[in-house]
Order: sequence, then C-alpha cells, then structure tokens
Amino acid sequence: MAEVGPPPAVTVSPMRPEHVRRVAEIERESFTTPWSEETFGGLLGRSGVVILVMTGSDGEILGYSVLWCILDQGELANIAIESGHRRLGYGRLLLEHVLDEARVRGVEELFLEVRASNAAAIRLYESFGFTRVGLRKDYYDRPREDAHLMVVHL
Ligand SMILES: CC(C)(COP(=O)(O)OP(=O)(O)OC[C@H]1O[C@@H](n2cnc3c(N)ncnc32)[C@H](O)[C@@H]1OP(=O)(O)O)[C@@H](O)C(=O)NCCC(=O)NCCS
Repeated sequence: MAEVGPPPAVTVSPMRPEHVRRVAEIERESFTTPWSEETFGGLLGRSGVVILVMTGSDGEILGYSVLWCILDQGELANIAIESGHRRLGYGRLLLEHVLDEARVRGVEELFLEVRASNAAAIRLYESFGFTRVGLRKDYYDRPREDAHLMVVHL
C-alpha cells in the first residue's frame, strides 16, 4: 500500500535572478494571461514585493508566490505549483510561508482575487480562513470570467 505522508523536504526562499526563467515557465503553464519573464525580473528587489520560490531537494523549482505588502494590507497576487507536483501538499506549504511572511511584515488583512471557476484554489484559500467578500464582474480575460475577492485577517 502506498504511504501517505508530508511532502519531501523543500526549501522556501526569496526569488533570485537565476529562478526567473523557470518561474515564468510555470506561470505560462498555469495561467492563460501569464506574466512575462521581464515582469518577474522587474519585481526583484522592489520594496513591498515578496516573491517566494519553493525548491525541491535537488534544487528544482516546484512553485512560487507573489505577495504585495502596503502598510497593514497585503495582496496575494500570484501563487502556482508546477503542474506535475500538484495535489501533493506543496501549495498548502507555500501558502503557510506566505502568511508567515505577511504577518512578519505587519499585514493584518490579506486580499486576493481568484477565478470563480478555480475550485482548487478556492478550497485551498478557504481552508486557511479566507472568505469571499466581493465579486469583480468580468475581471479576467481568456476566458472572460468573474473574480471572487477574498480576504483573511491575520
Ligand atoms: C491552486 C494550487 C496552487 C494548489 O496547489 P497544490 O499544491 O496542488 O495544493 P495542495 O496539494 O497543497 O492542496 C491543498 C488543498 O487545496 C485544495 N485543492 C488543491 N487541488 C485541488 C483540486 N484539484 N480539486 C479540489 N481541491 C483542490 C484541497 O482543499 C487541498 O487540500 P486536500 O488535499 O487536503 O483536499 C495549484 O492547483 C495551482 O498551481 N493551480 C494553478 C495556478 C492557480 O490557479 N493559482 C491560484 C491563482 S488565484
């Protein structure tokens, strides 16, 4: 019988220039209107922007997240796990790090937008206490779709 347990050892650290190319690849396989490599590169070192990269034991990038912090408010702008590693607990682990990072930076309310049809992400967010507080009509393109606005109080 297959054993079920915690994900194997991973490291979560700030994105560095050498990570940008792979992060942008995962972004392209995860979203229909992906951010470009230039966008990710341009965010490096910007104040209030925290991009975390999760790497496996052999150094491969498993996922990343983008957090904006402005005073006591934050926004989870982006989070994705590489498609071959989903449903293994990495998303949950990465989100734990994002929330810790937000708390350390004094964020009290963390917001995000999510496609109304993205049941996987919505379940993940709800399990961390995020609740729906608004609907942004036709917020997304390709396909055109509403966004749920969600928030968690830290
Ligand atoms: C959303 C995403 C980051 C989740 O990462 P993940 O590593 O697969 O998630 P985990 O394995 O840690 O799962 C955590 C919880 O999320 C929910 N979940 C994840 N995938 C799910 C799926 N396919 N269907 C339903 N629930 C799902 C479950 O509640 C799960 O907990 P459980 O396994 O105890 O049931 C990942 O699916 C992803 O990268 N999707 C594409 C990018 C994206 O949509 N990002 C969010 C933008 S707002």
